[in-house]
Amino acid sequence: MLKSLAKIKTRAEREIKEAKDLKSLNEIFKKYLGKQGELTQILSLLPKLPRPKRRKIGRLANQLKNSLTLKFDERAQKLKEEAIQVAKEKEWIDITLPGKKPVVGHLHPLTLVKRKACEIFSGLGFEVVEGPDLENEWYNFDALNIPPHHPARDLWDTFWLKLDKIQKKLLLRTHTSPVQVRYMEKNQPPLRIVVPGRVFRHEATDASHEINFYQLEGLMVDKDVSVANFRAILQEFFNRFFEKEIQLRLRPSYFPFTEPSFEVDISCLNCQGKGCSACQKTGFMEMMGAGLVHPQVFKSAGLNPQIWKGFAFGMGLDRLAMMKYKINDIRLFYSGDLRFLTQF
Ligand code: FA5
Repeated sequence: MLKSLAKIKTRAEREIKEAKDLKSLNEIFKKYLGKQGELTQILSLLPKLPRPKRRKIGRLANQLKNSLTLKFDERAQKLKEEAIQVAKEKEWIDITLPGKKPVVGHLHPLTLVKRKACEIFSGLGFEVVEGPDLENEWYNFDALNIPPHHPARDLWDTFWLKLDKIQKKLLLRTHTSPVQVRYMEKNQPPLRIVVPGRVFRHEATDASHEINFYQLEGLMVDKDVSVANFRAILQEFFNRFFEKEIQLRLRPSYFPFTEPSFEVDISCLNCQGKGCSACQKTGFMEMMGAGLVHPQVFKSAGLNPQIWKGFAFGMGLDRLAMMKYKINDIRLFYSGDLRFLTQF
C-alpha cells in the first residue's frame, strides 16, 4: 500500500503539472480523488487495516490527499489565468486601424430621372400629382373614350383583377392617362399637372419594351391652348433635361382620347441618330404619345369642351433614362444587377 501511495504521488503530480486545460485537470482529479478515484479507494480501505498500519498509512494517505488537493487548486488557478489572457489577446482591438466603410445605398436611375423631370415641369408651372396603380375599367378606358368594344383596348392589353365590391372591373393601369380625368373631376381649370407613375402592360419585352415601366403624364387645360404651346413646352423641357438643344419630331398618330394625336420622338442620343438596338435602328427614340384633349374626355370629367381646350402627353420615363445615361436595353433597370445599378 505504501508503494501504491508513492506511485500515485509521482503520477498524479506529473499529470497535474502537464494538464493543458481545466477540462483535463478535472479528469485527473476524478481519476485520483473522485468517488472511485485511486486515492479515495485506498482511504476507504483504512478502517479494515490493523491499528499500527492504519495510523501510518492513514497519515501518509491524508497528507497526500491534502497536498494533491492543493496542487489541483494551484494548477486550476493558473489555467484560469492563462485562459483569460488568451481571450484578452483574441479580443484585442487595434483602434488605429481604418474602419470598415458601410455600404450606402443610392437612388435608382429611374427615380433620379423622375425627380429631375418633375423638377423641370414644376419650374414651368406644373403641379406634380399622383394616381393609383390599381385602376378600374372606367378611368383606364371608358372615361378616355375607349368603350369595351373599341379595338384600341388591344393596344393596352393588361392584367385584370377580380371584381371589387361595387362590381367595377379592376386592372393594373396601362398608362397614367386615367389621372387626367380623376384630376379634372376634382379641380377646375385652368390647370397644369404632371403625373409620374408606374404602368403595366401584357406584352413581349425587348430592348425598349418592358411589361412594367414608368410614365410621366402631362396635362394643361385653359381656354386657349394649342399644339404650338405643347411643342414649345416640350422643347423647353427636353433642352433643360439634356442640357443641350434637342431635335424633336412630331409624327401623326392615333389615341382615342386626343384629337389630333401624335407621337413625339427625339433623335437617339445613344447612337447620335445613327441607329442602334435601343432606337431599333431608326435613329429616333419614341418618347411619348400626345395630342389635344378629346372633347369626350372633358365630358367624362364633367367639363364643358366648348369652353376648355388642352393638351396632354404620356412620356416614357424609362426611355428618357435610356437617353440620358446611354443605356441600350430597358431590361437592365429591372435586372437588380448591382454591377449596373452602382454606376449611378
Ligand atoms: C400612352 O400610353 C398614352 N396614354 C400616351 C398619351 C397620353 C397620349 C396623353 C395622348 C395623350 P403609348 O402606349 O404610346 O401611349 O405610351 C407612351 C410612351 O410610353 C411611349 O411613347 C413610350 O415612351 C413609353 N412606352 C410605351 N410602351 C412601353 C413599354 N412597353 N416599355 C417601356 N416604355 C413604353
